[in-house]
Amino acid sequence: MCGIIGYTGSGSAKEKILDGLEILEYRGYDSAGAFFIDEDNFHIVKTKGKVSNLKDEVKKLEGQEFPVGFGHTRWATHGEPSRENAHPHKVGKVTLVHNGIIENYIEIKNRLSKIGYTFNSETDSEVACALLDSYFKENAHPCVAIWEAERVLIGSYAFVFSFEGYKNELFAIRKGSPLHLGRGSDGFYLASDLTALSPFAKEFYTLKEGEIVEISTSDAKIHTKNGVISPIWEKNEIRYQKTGKLGYSHYMLKEINEQPSLVRSCLSGYIKNGLPNFEKANLSYDALEKIKRIHLVACGSAMHASLLGKRFLEEHAKIPCEVFVASEYRYSPPLFEENTLVILVSQSGETADTIASMRYAKDRGNLTLGIINAPGSTLAKESDFCIYTEAGAELAVATTKGYLTQALVLYLFSVFLSLNSKKINEENAKSLVCTILSVDTTIRKTLARQKELSRLAEKIKNAPSLFYIGRGLDYYLCLEGALKLKEISYINAQAYEAGELKHGTISLIENGTPVVAFATSEMLFEKTVSNLKETKSRGAYTILFSGKFSNDMDKIADECFLLDGNTREELIFSLILSLQLLAYECALQKGCEIDRPRNLAKSVTVE
Ligand code: G6P
Repeated sequence: MCGIIGYTGSGSAKEKILDGLEILEYRGYDSAGAFFIDEDNFHIVKTKGKVSNLKDEVKKLEGQEFPVGFGHTRWATHGEPSRENAHPHKVGKVTLVHNGIIENYIEIKNRLSKIGYTFNSETDSEVACALLDSYFKENAHPCVAIWEAERVLIGSYAFVFSFEGYKNELFAIRKGSPLHLGRGSDGFYLASDLTALSPFAKEFYTLKEGEIVEISTSDAKIHTKNGVISPIWEKNEIRYQKTGKLGYSHYMLKEINEQPSLVRSCLSGYIKNGLPNFEKANLSYDALEKIKRIHLVACGSAMHASLLGKRFLEEHAKIPCEVFVASEYRYSPPLFEENTLVILVSQSGETADTIASMRYAKDRGNLTLGIINAPGSTLAKESDFCIYTEAGAELAVATTKGYLTQALVLYLFSVFLSLNSKKINEENAKSLVCTILSVDTTIRKTLARQKELSRLAEKIKNAPSLFYIGRGLDYYLCLEGALKLKEISYINAQAYEAGELKHGTISLIENGTPVVAFATSEMLFEKTVSNLKETKSRGAYTILFSGKFSNDMDKIADECFLLDGNTREELIFSLILSLQLLAYECALQKGCEIDRPRNLAKSVTVE
């Protein structure tokens, strides 16, 4: 996590750094800081909390402009969110910002303490700064110190440094964590993602591990162990538009509302003559025809979308699939058979555990496919193939359209695989494509029912804990429903396989405990309802989200929300919208910080 932006050029570093940090704030927002330098002096400004607080502090530097500077927005790993622990850190002649984790920082700290270094923060980053200072000698180039430190530091990092005596230059290195160099009309930039570069730099270069970038107001150099090279520039295709919330009260609500139109815009690029077509993703159709087993690897909501993907892939393509939480993948350890396809699902394309899983699978000779939203991200670049989910920038920390588009793409990909391996014919494939495209109308109807969901939210918002239950695919939706509620409205929501509840957990049901059941499958409806009734008999306050599978729907539970649509797919996607709106409404009524929930970051770039 943590976002970094650096600038050297003829423009205003203050402006660039603050604008860049605003875009990067999704990476963490417990504190922020900036460093500015010119020929005569330097300033370090740090604040606890959001970038807007930093902005207020930087305003105090009014009338002063700087050609060089860098900024940081933090998600705490070592040390609580505080001004002291905020970056930049300055030790002796070195100032830096850091994204990542230095695993051996205690050992280094002890060593440096013995030679007189003292520390003002609890962070691993300040220790790295002191290490750099201890290696930096006036008569040697900063690269010497950076490479010495590189040999000692264990962990992941992206650093931007300023060294005393080098007022016009910034230096950067990375290992594990992302960092890009950008070239704009008015200078050079360093940023954790391409979106933060996009308003300023139309060209970029992604730092390779072990390289040191040196930028000045007029030049950018790459120092390698074999000498200095010039960056080979790529075009930055990302067009970041500062649209704001477009009248919605929160980014989350704006993004929920974008979903109906995203159904077609996300899928249409992968449909030709009514059939799935992934030529755009450069997929090797021959290699895919041989696939015998699929691993889906992801974190958080992307892992929940992968579970839906598993179901679609097994149902349509009849290929056995396993879903892994990315942070556990390497330790399970997974069994690879010949012709295993490893699918990495990620909105940001920068989730550290998902990246590590991709590299692990690739190193063992497996074919990897990224299903990614962020163009140019590490997963998009390093996976053998990449399908973009085309959801556009997602700014709310709790994903909505990111998750929905992942599910849509996985559905279409499952139809493609089944057609490619001749498990279905073109006519069947066309009909499945029509089915998935038609969910846009359905979810538009669900969107229009926000008031009904708001009323349901009133009933559950004060519950200290709550259960979501479902069977089969509905259980996968329960996992996402519970996560959404936990993330933004801080209700301890647990997802349970409906039939499993009675094997222990039912003892937690007390008078009034809300139990929410999901039923999108007619076949499983009766069984799920029985499980819901078991909780009602023990005092639960029951809510059912279901297709119309009985004439007495309103008698089954205390509340019933009839999902829109008729097909299974329509019911599933209507339920996705409902669970998002329910969580949103709960958070809204509780007065929670919806777009920036406590303790979270949108892109988790540490393992
Ligand atoms: C974080 C976000 C989640 C997201 C997960 C995976 O935890 O808060 O919303 O699902 O990371 O992120 P990715 O970018 O890999 O989809």
